[in-house]
Amino acid sequence: MTDSRALPDAAPHGIDLAALPRDFQWGTATSAYQIEGAVAEDGRGPSIWDTFSRTPGAIANGDSGDTACDHYHRWPEDVAVMKGLGANAYRLSVAWPRVFPGGDGPANGKGLDFYDRLIDGLLAAGIAPSVTLYHWDLPQALQDRGGWPERATAEHFAAYAGVVAERLGDRVTQWATLNEPLCSAWIGHLEGVMAPGWKDLTAAVRASYHLLLGHGLATQAVRAAAPGARIGIVNNLSTVAPATDSEADLAAARRMDGHVNRWWLDPVHGRGFPADMLEVYGVELPERPGDLAAIGAPLDWTGLNYYFPQIVTADPDGPAPFARMIDRPGVPRTGMDWEVDAGGLETLIMRLTEEYGARSIHITENGSSYPDTVAPDGSVHDPERAAYLTAHLAACARAARRGAPLAGYYAWSLLDNFEWAYGYDKRFGLVHVDYATQRRTVKSSGHRYAEVVAAHRAL
Ligand code: FCB
Repeated sequence: MTDSRALPDAAPHGIDLAALPRDFQWGTATSAYQIEGAVAEDGRGPSIWDTFSRTPGAIANGDSGDTACDHYHRWPEDVAVMKGLGANAYRLSVAWPRVFPGGDGPANGKGLDFYDRLIDGLLAAGIAPSVTLYHWDLPQALQDRGGWPERATAEHFAAYAGVVAERLGDRVTQWATLNEPLCSAWIGHLEGVMAPGWKDLTAAVRASYHLLLGHGLATQAVRAAAPGARIGIVNNLSTVAPATDSEADLAAARRMDGHVNRWWLDPVHGRGFPADMLEVYGVELPERPGDLAAIGAPLDWTGLNYYFPQIVTADPDGPAPFARMIDRPGVPRTGMDWEVDAGGLETLIMRLTEEYGARSIHITENGSSYPDTVAPDGSVHDPERAAYLTAHLAACARAARRGAPLAGYYAWSLLDNFEWAYGYDKRFGLVHVDYATQRRTVKSSGHRYAEVVAAHRAL
């Protein structure tokens, strides 16, 4: 006799869920400045993003994170929304300027108390926190002393990381030091589009070095304060292909791979900084004995943020020192104008697995922005985002099937939020936020995510 009960669907929407481990982390991700608001509350000091968002012309519509999603006050509702999605994990960042309003000096107890409450709330809801220590909000006081181009910033970062780990390490095991140091260094110090808004190659290379040194020193500090901690770093990687097969474009693609991928991956895997890129930049690294060993200490896990592939052509005017991305006609794009290519995610997961020997990989961000509309009945129907999500989850499952140690997926983002230089124009949430009322509405992509999570659990 056959069992008349329906078998669970092992591959809803073409996602080979059986390839994913039983304890897979199904999460969403956010960052402090993008959602918290309450920028002047409970002793928080200003960050470089408070300053940058007050710089005329820097942010679309003159927006800022002053209120954002008001998550600082509404976090219990947001935890309930996560629970409603069936998520068992959540990636958040701690705002350094809440903990050390002046960057160093005395810690602010009220800042730490906020994260303490949030962590307890998450755990009570059965949601494991994954805590990122730096998602771009450097205390302005440290910027005033030179910021990431200065070595002292890396040392202050390690001290801050140790204090946070000391306070939360009894309940948080998963830690990331930095989010996307590429953006801090290259977009913040070379392209000038993100805080602190500099356009200076030497400063950018020095910032990249001290960010990675900060990663290494913070890893030591967190391990000392919380011995059970599992520590990783979050990089945003792209597949890179040449626009044509000309020698110049092939060389540009190789360098772009160095600029966006190898510059960040090689040092944290103990391989030092790529020699070809040192030559391209022509900037001497402020290296001291022992630094490379600290930067290259083995990671417990690797975080991969993936959004789009890069098709590049040689161009000495940049924005990379030697190349720029091109827009291919007729290719699907998101509302950010980013090309959609789910296969790139599979490729990058396999690269981390095979070329870098990653022990455990978390997709710490992946998602899409589209201009959503709220229907008269209040619902938000976003089929393009749902399709993007589904295609990328299918790519994750394919990589897992091929043997990648994939341990989690965190959709960017839980909520629509402050999208940096784009302000509130770009919406990435699985959950819509009406900024006038702060009302949260799960979009159809959020319902799709919940359905996939439930199907995996039912296997
Ligand atoms: C990443 C950032 C994240 C968000 C997404 C869209 O580069 O880490 O904060 O802005 O892009």
